[in-house]
Amino acid sequence: MGELTDRLRKNSESDIYPFHMPGHKRNLEWNINPYAYDITETDGFDDLHNPTGILADMTRRVNMLYGAKASFILVNGSTAGILSAVSASLDTGDTVLMARNCHKSAYNAAYIRQLKTEYIYPQIDRNSGIALEIKAEDVEKAYDVNPRIKAVLLVSPTYEGVVSDIEAIAKAVHRRGGILIVDCAHGAHFGTSEAAPVNPLQSGADIVVMSLHKTLASFTQTAVMCVGTDRVDLERLKYYADIYVSTSPSYLLMASVERCLDIMEQSGNVLWQMHYRRMKDFRRKCAGLKKLYLFESSDYDIARAAVCTDRCGLSGNKLMDMLRKEYRLELEMASARYAVAITTCHDTQEGLDRLYNALEQIDRSLGETTERGIHERNFRAAVSQRFTSPDKICEPWQAERSRISEVSLKEAVNRAAADYIYIYPPGIPWIVPGEIITPEITDMIKTIGGLGIEIRGLTRQNTIRILDLEKNNG
Ligand SMILES: Cc1ncc(COP(=O)(O)O)c(C=O)c1O
Repeated sequence: MGELTDRLRKNSESDIYPFHMPGHKRNLEWNINPYAYDITETDGFDDLHNPTGILADMTRRVNMLYGAKASFILVNGSTAGILSAVSASLDTGDTVLMARNCHKSAYNAAYIRQLKTEYIYPQIDRNSGIALEIKAEDVEKAYDVNPRIKAVLLVSPTYEGVVSDIEAIAKAVHRRGGILIVDCAHGAHFGTSEAAPVNPLQSGADIVVMSLHKTLASFTQTAVMCVGTDRVDLERLKYYADIYVSTSPSYLLMASVERCLDIMEQSGNVLWQMHYRRMKDFRRKCAGLKKLYLFESSDYDIARAAVCTDRCGLSGNKLMDMLRKEYRLELEMASARYAVAITTCHDTQEGLDRLYNALEQIDRSLGETTERGIHERNFRAAVSQRFTSPDKICEPWQAERSRISEVSLKEAVNRAAADYIYIYPPGIPWIVPGEIITPEITDMIKTIGGLGIEIRGLTRQNTIRILDLEKNNG
């Protein structure tokens, strides 16, 4: 057995409980030989890029599940959907208004299409550093400043479970003649049950992209892109989906989509109702913790558990580490002051109990310490910088054409970045190529890096690549 396969086997047999994706939580069975079923397009199996038979039936089922006007099944994640949606909604040189907490696929889409980018900076929760919802009034303001905005792209729910008022935002965007694309990668369960939040498709979003694999029982990489209104040019959307989706789609992946649809149609409502009841109970118990607490905003998906550590001496990273090493619980991601657990209707009650018991024990062990996990002043500077607008001298696709130098953090201040700098997950950039690096950014790099959280976009030597504009001009 190869090393990777061996590791997968060990992982599947271990007692580590997954509070991360995929949403099926490795808790379902499927008695098939994957080799026997592994084909791509062949006679009798339809064509994902031009479905007329069994795959067209599946897209109709997706339409029914979400109340969509048209749907595309994707075998390379929401990433392919976001690239397609942005590409189809804007032409080269157009302006896109993006929530700054968009996933890197949104930045990549703007890069590929050579778009002008404007950002909406969500407010952040000062204690945890979690980005809050995007407000319709901020979308309006952005249009007032730049009426040329052609499409708006935002994430709802976010990685941490924050939901935006899509109805109000859709009205604002449509009043200005724009297209609203919602990255709902973490909300494929939205709208599938009375207990779950409303799906953005029901609130007026034009295109909604959802990762079936993140919260539902479908294999990793499966996603759907759904169209909610007649404003979308379906031919163009199809044209770009053809470009970004593999020409050899895996029928095993698509069979898992079919299985996921079976489950959702037969018992999705009941399963998710039961799960939301369990999560209410979980939250009620966690409300009794003294130091750790679960984040919640005004509009929030309680299936997500963002455990905040800002009232004690732990970083989110350390909490995630303790849960892994001492309690055999693997969370999805950690940031400076919180760690995120993904829960779905495929979690077991035993898993949720293990998580609560672990949090309760850790909380008790924290005692009365009031020491903060990160120096308070640095953290506040860091979070405020994360969502303020740095000056920019060019777009990322223009930055690529510049010559580049490698400098220390100190020397990088007031120079334009050549790379995205971010932590992954969630992959939201603190700085984008072409933007000016401020002292607050380098402070944040030191602060967050000092917690042992890996920062992407730095070189191995911990230097930063900057645009060498003088050399360019010379
Ligand atoms: C907010 C958000 N959007 C899009 C994506 C991309 O989704 P996928 O992994 O299905 O390509 C992710 C991945 O984590 C994400 O967090």
